Amino acid sequence: MERRQLLKMAPAVGAGLIAAKPAFAVMAELSNIRQQSVSESFAQAKRLHPELIGFENVNDDFERKKLKVEGQIPKDLQGHYYRNGPAKLERNGIRYQHLFEGDGMLQHFCIAGGKVTHRGRFIHTPKFSQEEQAGRFVYSGPETKIANGKAVVSSNAINTANTNVIPVGNDLWALWEAGSATRINAQTLDYLEQVDLGKGTRYDAKLTGLPFSAHPKVEANGDIWNFGLHPSGSVVLYHLYPDGKVKNVGMIDSRYKGGMLHDFLITQKHILLILPSLKRNLFAKGDGYFSGIEFARHQTMKVLVIDKHDLTITRQYELPPGFVFHFGNAWEDKQGEIQFDMSLYANVDVLYQMSNLMTGDSVRDAARAETVLVTLKKSGEVSTAIGDHGTEFPRVFANEIGQKSEQLFYVSGNSDSLWSHSVNSLHYQTREISHYDYGRDYFVEEHVPIKTKAGGDYLMGTALHVPSKRTCLTVFNADNVAHGPVVKAWLPYHLPIGFHGSFISG
Ligand SMILES: [Fe+2]
Repeated sequence: MERRQLLKMAPAVGAGLIAAKPAFAVMAELSNIRQQSVSESFAQAKRLHPELIGFENVNDDFERKKLKVEGQIPKDLQGHYYRNGPAKLERNGIRYQHLFEGDGMLQHFCIAGGKVTHRGRFIHTPKFSQEEQAGRFVYSGPETKIANGKAVVSSNAINTANTNVIPVGNDLWALWEAGSATRINAQTLDYLEQVDLGKGTRYDAKLTGLPFSAHPKVEANGDIWNFGLHPSGSVVLYHLYPDGKVKNVGMIDSRYKGGMLHDFLITQKHILLILPSLKRNLFAKGDGYFSGIEFARHQTMKVLVIDKHDLTITRQYELPPGFVFHFGNAWEDKQGEIQFDMSLYANVDVLYQMSNLMTGDSVRDAARAETVLVTLKKSGEVSTAIGDHGTEFPRVFANEIGQKSEQLFYVSGNSDSLWSHSVNSLHYQTREISHYDYGRDYFVEEHVPIKTKAGGDYLMGTALHVPSKRTCLTVFNADNVAHGPVVKAWLPYHLPIGFHGSFISG
């Protein structure tokens, strides 16, 4: 019998066994049975698809370990590379139903004196600490219902801090998107607090627990910009000083009811909110948050151009229907013409694919995005051009954010590959692409362009080599990606596939 059928049957079999119990107890047990079948289904699928090791549960922290370096680490390349991603995906036989629900784990690569060490540590959020102590999931997640779960009194109660990590002041902020940033000690990776941005300011408790996206943009002067989407369609806009203190906060009514807005852009003068073609179906099958998000194929994507000074909408544009997780960069010329790029999906199937990863279902059928270069003219016209195919995780050099940039860096893959296997740079003006394919044995994660203090331009990333079950840290010369990595530094084991990270030079 197919696994898919088994999954469907499991609740029915369970219902027969527990029919004499009160309704709430039946529901609770059904819920547990469903998630146990997710765990069993994944374990079975992993035997057929060994690449799923990238999405298996991580039991413990990774102690500090020296990596085996192939090649020579450039002398000017010193610093700390931090990455974040979901890693606690199962407890007590229960496996989450969506990858986005896993508790965050920080990976810290320290590069000094030509050597590399790594350490990985779970982020001890209030949720993680309680569940670690209980030895089971205590709270329901956005997708997974936990039997007899504790009431979720605020979004921060289930904040997993699992998506991105950026340096702010002397600390790190581990980022989710539906609640506060999580402050972490950059040396010890200890959890410090959930950042309450209003505390000690004129905003007081008004900002406590508000959504704060995982993709803040840090402009050249160090100021931090971010947004947070409330399910009502209100969007909070944040302007912070480089040390993370509040400079200004605003609110706009976007009228967007898609339930998910993951990334945004800034130029020197404006904030760009690009609202994908999503709608929430409150009557969707199942009761999960992500499975209730649907593609609205007749709904255009809206671009809201917001003035950075007074945080009001100044212009609006429409793009054809589509879905986007990530944007690379945006800038505008003196006449107010804005250019930006996005990794554009034809629909929102990629979101459901993150559920398939949890059961191990449909692992050879990946949804892929195209890099689309967009020009927003002052007249209201929009023009678009395709830059490349099969792309994700676009990044530019940090000092170019919001300003004209030359190169866009991203990973890419074919539709018959579950995860990306190549890394690329695209020259914005000439459209020339420099491409390096790691090969289908690798799962390639986000690669981050780095400028060292001595002026060196590098591209750093991680990749999971499936056959040997090891993760490597790689370094490229940013001006010649096609040449391949100049350094590969190997761990003797593999790390969970993560999302985003930052490099701190020095
Ligand atoms: Fe992201």
